[in-house]
Amino acid sequence: MVLVAPSILSADFSRLGEEIKAVERAGADWIHIDVMDGHFVPNITIGPVVVKSIRPVTDLTFDVHLMIAEPWKYVDAFAEAGADFITIHAECGNVAGTIDAIKKKCRAGIAVRPSTPLSAIADVIDSIDMLLVMTVNPGFGGQKFMEEVLPKIKEARKMIGSRDIYLQVDGGINPENVAAVKEAGADVIVAGSAVFKSGDYSTAIKSLK
Ligand code: DX5
Ligand code: ZN
Repeated sequence: MVLVAPSILSADFSRLGEEIKAVERAGADWIHIDVMDGHFVPNITIGPVVVKSIRPVTDLTFDVHLMIAEPWKYVDAFAEAGADFITIHAECGNVAGTIDAIKKKCRAGIAVRPSTPLSAIADVIDSIDMLLVMTVNPGFGGQKFMEEVLPKIKEARKMIGSRDIYLQVDGGINPENVAAVKEAGADVIVAGSAVFKSGDYSTAIKSLK
């Protein structure tokens, strides 16, 4: 069975704590936290102060996806705020050094944009805990799933082989396309709008699983 990680980017931020408790009750496995800085992506979202303030609300794993230009500067701040996973982007530079810094604090992931080939992560595959394949261009929730990335998910599964690495897929996943994502080899499904805009979190999470 796959793990489902609702992205709080699509939650009601005026009631963030309650929203997290509601998806926990509805069967969420992890909480996916999308951090954007207005440089690496055009949008600005959440910083360590918010992560710290929601940390006491749940014991679920905090899966922090950094879409920021110089992630090495913020690893300690997010780890100390309560991140269990910190995922950085392969397109950022200084990847190996940043992964090492993350691993001193918590678990480490690496993400690839839809246009970035998996060869970009080959050098670090033996030091990561999670590989995140993006199925939208990072920056906003509610975008359309890019079907053309499905072969890359399959390729990622092959590349992981017998290593103990989660294969996470993020972007535009909903109950209609999730079967293809699982079939391609994903074991952690991120879903923002498919959960938080659904009106019934429990049914949404069940149908993704
Ligand atoms: C995109 C983010 C995703 C996104 C997921 O930049 O990394 O986590 O918010 O939201 P949906 O499921 O609505 O695409
Ligand atoms: Zn994300």
